[in-house]
Formats: sequence, structure tokens, C-alpha cells
Amino acid sequence: MGKGQELYKKAKTLIPGGTMLLSKRPEMFLPEHWPSYFSKAKGCSVWDLEGKELLDMSIMGIGTNTLGYGNDEVDAAVMEAVKKGNMSTLNCPEEVYLAEKLIEINPWADMVRFARSGGEANAIAIRIARAASGKDNVAICGYHGWHDWYLSANHNGGDELSGHLIPGLNPLGVPKNLKDSVFPFHYNNYEELLALVENNNIGVIKMEVIRNFGPENNFLQKVRALATEKNIVLIFDECTSGFRETFGGIYQKYGVEPDMAMYGKTIGNGYALTAVVGTKAVMEAAQTTFISSTFWTERIGPTAALATLKVMERVKSWDTITETGNKMRNGWQKLADNYNLNISISGIPSLSTYSFNSPDTLAYKTLIAQEMLKKGFLASTNFYASTAHNDDNLDLYFNALESVYKLISSCERGELQISSLLEGPICHGGFKRLN
Ligand SMILES: Cc1ncc(COP(=O)(O)O)c(C=O)c1O
Repeated sequence: MGKGQELYKKAKTLIPGGTMLLSKRPEMFLPEHWPSYFSKAKGCSVWDLEGKELLDMSIMGIGTNTLGYGNDEVDAAVMEAVKKGNMSTLNCPEEVYLAEKLIEINPWADMVRFARSGGEANAIAIRIARAASGKDNVAICGYHGWHDWYLSANHNGGDELSGHLIPGLNPLGVPKNLKDSVFPFHYNNYEELLALVENNNIGVIKMEVIRNFGPENNFLQKVRALATEKNIVLIFDECTSGFRETFGGIYQKYGVEPDMAMYGKTIGNGYALTAVVGTKAVMEAAQTTFISSTFWTERIGPTAALATLKVMERVKSWDTITETGNKMRNGWQKLADNYNLNISISGIPSLSTYSFNSPDTLAYKTLIAQEMLKKGFLASTNFYASTAHNDDNLDLYFNALESVYKLISSCERGELQISSLLEGPICHGGFKRLN
């Protein structure tokens, strides 16, 4: 057992769930064998606790580092902030500069609040939107974090979030009197949303603009028109989609503007910073409630975000990562075709994921992580692109992946048993989404 697995065994006795993020649990990739911890990360390489370099062809810090790990320009700005001091009794000016920049990027917006996690930004947005609309009830479509307001949807009848999060998610600890305050709707199902709005006194609609497939029949335009007509605050959660296809929200591609939007993940290239932007009419409601936190005032987050935005704008990172993501998808499809394997690819190009259309799909995913790790890759069945990934990385990856596809195709033909190839348990299933 490697040092990483040894440490993870200890972690599970000290930290419930072993880690702070479900998606980084080693069981999501390769139970009992995943290196689990890093000693160093740079570009698209990660070094494990033994100091072995691994090419990260998987989730790149769960989509945080579109400019690669340890981007020199971003890190230099952060180092300077550290040298000058990260905290003081006075506020850091960078938060004002960043607010100005975000309003320039979102011209419909007038004001900004900052936080340090996507779930926090979502909770802030909901509090402000409820205060602004004067109504408690919210319609949602997508994943919006772990907070009470969101998980309470599973009190309504039982498993309302199954289409958006993990089926069977238990909202234990979330007060039951939040029941019937949050109502999920399915992406592209306008009639469902309309019925929710007409029957449940909805004051806020919060949704991911696009996740696994795109809008049909002017879905986003219809949602916007409904929100405007009924005086509902429309919020786009861009925590994951932001800055991956445009310089800002992916909503720009569809010509529809929200009343509020949240950004997270990639905006600080691995440093913690999330933002809630909104119109003055809505955002000023923040003054009628209480939203305040000590570490929302530290300096590294906004400094990193300013530097990240500067680099992203200059190199047009959203174009590069979309192109790289598309190359990855084409490569997967080509390999699958060559080996007669049936796969389904989804997600926007820079956040691509696929599954084998086979009852053994999770076992195959585990085999990929297992065999690719031996060849020096962090790999699974998804790929979050960064500007640090180049064609040579992709070539190396596909050369290595080919032999794993060969094994999988032998399993599909009944010549090999997948169970005989796996050296540990099958990985856990990930997030399931219907949007
Ligand atoms: C759309 C969206 N909103 C919110 C979140 C929650 O962000 P965080 O994990 O930083 O709390 C995520 C994270 O995956 C997300 O994809």
C-alpha cells in the first residue's frame, strides 16, 4: 500500500468521509489504490506522496485550475499579497477592483458580494433573492451546494434532488420545517417550471444555464420571460460553467441575462474566491438582512481572481480549453469505435465526461483508473481541460488508454472477466444529473 492510501486510512478515522469533498474521495476513482494525496502540483502534473509525477488527465482539482496548477502569474500576485499581508483591520482594495471587473464582464449587473466557496455563494444569493422578492419559495434546476436551503428539497416527498444530485441523498440534520420551500424542475421542461410557479408562490428561480446538454425550444428565453412576468428573481449558477466557454458566464452564448449570477471554481485558478453579481434592485436587499463573514475579507482570493482574469482574458483560455476538450472527446470516440465499444459522452467540451453503455460501466471506469495509474496518469472517465494540457499530453494519454480499451473490449466480448482484472473494489458512482 502506498503512503497516500496509508494516510487515507488514517484520515477516515479522523475525518468523517475521509475528505472535505465527495468528488475527491479516492473511492470515486480507485478504492484502496488511488494515490489520494499530493505533495506538489504544477502545470498539469501532480506528484504523489512518494514523489512520483502523474499527468492529471482527470478533474484538474475538480475544475478549479483552467490555467494549470501553480500558474506563474497568478502565483506571483498571490506571493506579493502574502508578503504585504493577507489580513488586517482594514479591508483589502482588491475586492473593489475585482467587483469593478466583474461588473465590466457582466454589464447588466451593478453590485457584487464575495465568498470563498460555491455553496456559500449560492446561499448568499438565495438569502438576497428571498429578501428582494419577499417570497420564500424557490424553484431550482441543478446542483447548488450542500446548504440547508438546497437539501431541504428532499424533505418534500423523499428524493426530489435525485435528478440533480445523488439519488437517495439523506437530508438528515436539515430542519423539516423547510419542507416545500424548494422545488426542483427538470432542464428543458418549461411546463413543469410553469406549473411550479403557478402553484407554489415561487419568488426565485435558480438554475445552471447548461450542464450536460443544451437548451431546447428557447427554454432559457422562456424562463427569463416567465421570471420577468411574475416578478421572480432569476439566478444563474455559473460556479462551474463560468469562464469555460466565454469570458464570463456561459449565458452570454444564449443571449439571456439573469438578475443574479454566481461564479466560483475557476475564477481564482485554485485559490478560493466566489462571487455573487446582481442588479442593484436585487443586490441592495443584502442590506435588509445579515450576510457577513470574517474570511470573506482576506486578500489572497480577490488578488488571485484579478490575476486569473487578466491571464484568462489575454490568452482567451476558454477557447483553448474548449478546443482541448473537443480533442479529448474525439479521441475517446475514435478509440471506442476502433474497439467496438458503445460510449456516451456528455458535458460541455471543457468539462467532458463519458460512460460505457454496459452494465459493467463502473467496473470499466475503475479499470481505467487502475491501469492508467500504473502508466503515470491520473485518469478516470472524465476530463476537465486546462491551458496546461497540450497535444503531446493527449497523445501520451491516448497511447496508454488504447491498451485499456483493448481489455474492456475483450470483457465486452466475453473473453475476459472484468472481475479478474480489478485489483480492488469497484469505484463509487458519481453525481447523477438530469440537467
Ligand atoms: C453549479 C455549482 N454550484 C455550486 C457548486 C458548489 O460549489 P462548492 O463545492 O465550491 O461549494 C458546484 C460545485 O460543484 C457547482 O457545480
